[in-house]
Amino acid sequence: MSDHLTRAEKVLQRINELASVSEDDGCITRTYGTRAFIEGRNKVEQWMKQAGLQTRTDNIGNIRGRLLSGNADAKTFVIASHIDTVINAGKFDGPLGVLAGLDLIEQIIRSKTEIPFHVELIAFCDEEGCRFHTTYLGSKAVAGSFDKQLSDKRDAAGISLGEVIKQNGGDVNNLSKDAIAKEDWLGYFEIHIEQGPVLYERNIPVGVVTAIAAQCRIELIFTGEAGHAGTVPMDMRKDALACAAEFILETEKFAITGKKKLVATIGKLHIINPASNVIPGQVICSLDIRSEDENILSSSCLAIKEMAENICKKRGINLKWGLIQQTKPAICDKGMNKLLVQSIKEAGFDPVELVSGAGHDAVPVSEVSPVAMLFVRCFKGISHNPLEEVELKDIAAAIKVSDNFIQQLVKYKPPVR
Ligand code: GLV
Ligand code: MN
Ligand code: MN
Repeated sequence: MSDHLTRAEKVLQRINELASVSEDDGCITRTYGTRAFIEGRNKVEQWMKQAGLQTRTDNIGNIRGRLLSGNADAKTFVIASHIDTVINAGKFDGPLGVLAGLDLIEQIIRSKTEIPFHVELIAFCDEEGCRFHTTYLGSKAVAGSFDKQLSDKRDAAGISLGEVIKQNGGDVNNLSKDAIAKEDWLGYFEIHIEQGPVLYERNIPVGVVTAIAAQCRIELIFTGEAGHAGTVPMDMRKDALACAAEFILETEKFAITGKKKLVATIGKLHIINPASNVIPGQVICSLDIRSEDENILSSSCLAIKEMAENICKKRGINLKWGLIQQTKPAICDKGMNKLLVQSIKEAGFDPVELVSGAGHDAVPVSEVSPVAMLFVRCFKGISHNPLEEVELKDIAAAIKVSDNFIQQLVKYKPPVR
């Protein structure tokens, strides 16, 4: 078996071990700050320590391990991905990038490669944003763009983000101290499963990301009037759920028929005080809209809002539209992508370029550092689903390409920014 396959086996073994840590039995759920999340994070920290990295947990809850260059004044090259998950997740989304990244650093140490930059491996704590509906909490802290107001946000149980940070040993007032200063970044590299079908359909193991789509997350609260399911005539109801249902279907129609580069998803629907014999009085739902074109995203957001207002007006329902988060598209660094393309060719694969519809921690980091991402093929592009699967040989391919990339980076003279 080739060296890359042996290393891929170790990466997969660790991915499996991390996947065994979950909030619920029989599935993988590790949302930010939960006991399972902390247990998983401790495992990753142990592995970083075993590799010889200097580790620490920062205030938001990222695990960070550093390998120092002989040059104390060197810049830092960050290799990272996330270890939080969606609910009932697959095992590769996030952990692949952290654990393949760890393998990459182990290889640097084993091969005694002299690195002219510090390397920092980061296991980000919240990329999915499932608990607080806000993405990139961990990477925002490292990029220095964490908005302190976010700490007032509450999860479904009413616990605030600030309280979770404190419970886990962090201090909201010190979050800014964890940022890497703009001038200290050399670059950022993330290995991640594609989460889409392009590489699978084209039978190619890895691809280069050129850009990451912009996204908008909104919370809508539809308030009607709860009532008796048996007594209130149909034409006298203010049914919040029926209103939300109409909105959901109209939003789907808008995204499909607009033929724009736009996707819209309502993934969360919460009926307040649900009962089979009560007309739903209040419904809260999420809305996730994405586009690689920021202008299309903004204008679509406005159009969908207007549509929601019209539907609510017609039905006598009150609407609260709350923008939770809006992120710009991220453009990957051309210089680093050139190295990545070269590394893919050297490994014997065709370089394919892709735009990511999924969000990644590279997005906030791109505001302060050049970023590059390597996508790895996953089975039929399935992700955010326990059926998510990556073949061992594709992990080996990603390792081979990433080794080449590091070797190129050691010789790389980045343009002055
Ligand atoms: C994260 O996976 C996202 O794209 O929402
Ligand atoms: Mn991810
Ligand atoms: Mn994800």
